[in-house]
Amino acid sequence: MHEANRMKRLPLYLFTIIDHLKDEARQKGIDIVDLGMGNPDQPTPRHVVDELCKQARRPENHRYPRPNEPAEMKLKEAIADWYKDRFNVELDPRYEVLPLIGSKEGVAHLSLAFLNHDDMALVPSPAYPVHFNGVIMAGGILYNIPLTCENNFKPDLKSISRSVVNMAKMLFLSYPHNPTTTVVDLDFYEQVARWAKDKDIVIASDLAYSDIVFDGYKAPSILQVKGIKEKVIEFHTLSKSYNMPGWRIGYAVGSRTILASLAKTKSYIDFGIFRPIQYAAIKALSGSQDCVKATVETYKKRRDVFVEGLNSIGWKVDKPRATFYIWTRIPLKYDALTSMEFAELLVNETGVVVAPGTGFGEYGEGYVRFALVENEQRLKIAVERIKKVLDMQT
Ligand SMILES: Cc1ncc(COP(=O)(O)O)c(C=O)c1O
Repeated sequence: MHEANRMKRLPLYLFTIIDHLKDEARQKGIDIVDLGMGNPDQPTPRHVVDELCKQARRPENHRYPRPNEPAEMKLKEAIADWYKDRFNVELDPRYEVLPLIGSKEGVAHLSLAFLNHDDMALVPSPAYPVHFNGVIMAGGILYNIPLTCENNFKPDLKSISRSVVNMAKMLFLSYPHNPTTTVVDLDFYEQVARWAKDKDIVIASDLAYSDIVFDGYKAPSILQVKGIKEKVIEFHTLSKSYNMPGWRIGYAVGSRTILASLAKTKSYIDFGIFRPIQYAAIKALSGSQDCVKATVETYKKRRDVFVEGLNSIGWKVDKPRATFYIWTRIPLKYDALTSMEFAELLVNETGVVVAPGTGFGEYGEGYVRFALVENEQRLKIAVERIKKVLDMQT
């Protein structure tokens, strides 16, 4: 059996790499502190789980969901209300909101909906892998925009040549940023809007971490920029804010024409989201947001413990203002190693699993990412073990 060429063009998948590192260490009997995948460890709020159970007992919820039936409309309205409340952005629930089977699904299918084989997608690197892998799978041309320490991990759009821009049909953005934890303010999106003004380009903004913010920072939505809606699709997820990663529910909002193309693509592939999950999502979005506050507080405490711990053992790291990640250069002592080699060393010597920077694209080289998805106690253990690697004679 020969796989399609487009599958061969894909780089090794980040989470496959992480699973492989973990399996090898486990087989050696090493205790794993798993800070590899950004897989939230806290439980889904009780009232959301209760709603799922209640709705799962109703036979009418066992059928295929169909767009714009009462359950589907209620979810779209809850999403539009959430956007109004959170960003003061008005959305028409019928045409400007599209629920997804997780935002990853929507991002992947967006490339399929828009890219021909000679269309280019401008994708920052490093990035959440589906931003670039979706382009490759769709058969489009991937153009990496380097995000580096020098440009504060923000894309320098003006430096992209005219010939590239002429071929570009899509631009991906995602702030607060996974993996670099960079945040932006509304002025950044105003600049993007000015750059995009005379261009026929879809701007895809992935806002997965808008709620996971600290120290008074508030993440804006690109849709807060006046007049930009017709070029924009913004992705959101319940996975992080409401600890619902396994439920597979997210959504896209923005331009009705872009959403219609994505909905059309999806209509050939899936039947939407299991209705009890939709009802549970309505509860999450429109119920008390205290659960989100509690989740953020937990991540903040973990961030403080872990960053202060790393600094105390000589690995200098700043506290991020958003996301539950720590993005950091490989310690100087080991900077001759690739990020993959360093991740391997760390798991073999300490059992601490991290994501190698190159799992997020070529400009991730030299970095690793810690996901703070273990409790404070385990994070302290991770720091103690990492100290041994820093103190090791090499
Ligand atoms: C930037 C970003 N977008 C999307 C996702 C995936 O979200 P979902 O669970 O909705 O597919 C993640 C998950 O880590 C992410 O980091």
